[in-house]
Amino acid sequence: MNAHTDPFGRTPDGQEVQIYTLTNSKGLRARITNFGATLVSIEVPDRHGNLKDVVLGFDSLDPYTQRDAYIGATIGRYANRIANARFVLDGVEYKLTANEGPNQLHGGTVGFDKKLWTTQEAVATDNEAWVKMTYLSKDGEEGYPGNLQCTVSYVLTNNDELRIDYEARADKKTVINLTNHSYWNLGGPDSANILGHELTINAGKFTAIDKSLIPTGMIASVLDMPLDFSRPRPIGERMHHLGKGYDHNYVLRGAAGAMKFCAKARDPDSGRVMEISTTEPGVQLYTSNYLDGSLIGKGGKPLNKYAGFCLETQHFPDSPNKPSFPSTVLAPGEKFTSTTVHKFSTE
Ligand code: BGC
Repeated sequence: MNAHTDPFGRTPDGQEVQIYTLTNSKGLRARITNFGATLVSIEVPDRHGNLKDVVLGFDSLDPYTQRDAYIGATIGRYANRIANARFVLDGVEYKLTANEGPNQLHGGTVGFDKKLWTTQEAVATDNEAWVKMTYLSKDGEEGYPGNLQCTVSYVLTNNDELRIDYEARADKKTVINLTNHSYWNLGGPDSANILGHELTINAGKFTAIDKSLIPTGMIASVLDMPLDFSRPRPIGERMHHLGKGYDHNYVLRGAAGAMKFCAKARDPDSGRVMEISTTEPGVQLYTSNYLDGSLIGKGGKPLNKYAGFCLETQHFPDSPNKPSFPSTVLAPGEKFTSTTVHKFSTE
């Protein structure tokens, strides 16, 4: 396995940014930058062995520092939405920055996706190559209580897996929900959209939402709905029933905290397959409904609606205000951990 580090430019305020390249013995290659702890590219083979990059992104650093679509980034302190940008912990109300109407989305105005993370050198052994990044989110940042020390590790294995491990500790009681916001297209850069990808999600239920995508608190069945991916279905098959597209949190089968199958995506044209497993209780399926061609991606290609799909492993949206959902509270002395594995193969 191989790992190396290259410069990736400077942030608008002049700080140096790096890009880390991890390669396994079969040629799978992942590039990660410490700006936003972002997955920039990952090249995986099709059924004939042709390596192609299967995530949307940009060729240079600047668009990552300006973007608003969270492309490839680590999302925190709280991925997804918190209603009315507030919550109560131990009787104290915490007011967060609202950045989507009255609500908070993906950690606020300057979330973890727009922070420069501290890294050590990338490391390669016989079976794994990895890069580990840390970020200290200060007490009060975006309204959240407590200093939160976070670590994200991207690990590429010789078993054709990309594993993302998260760890965090806080010095005051706080809430935390971390995810990765990669937009996948297993067809590679020349594939126009993901509507023909077959998707399976290991869930029979989802968190029902209101018009502003805030959970009502009800856990509802997906049975016989366009949301039902419990057996493989082309993503585009029933999308017209949904308005813009998918933007829903699924309740995964299996115990929260235990590693379990989350989802499988298969591109019938290239044969590329990605299977996701996670310790998280939920996953948000988002089909890039709001990409509109105004962001220019790799190779000068506009990023259009349905160009990629996100499977954001996570705790449920608005958990801090929904006592019946699995808890997102992290107390001092506790260690937050979360792991998501993306395994690549062909069929
Ligand atoms: C959310 C979408 C949002 C998108 C922003 C997704 O995680 O579910 O509603 O528009 O992120 O890129």
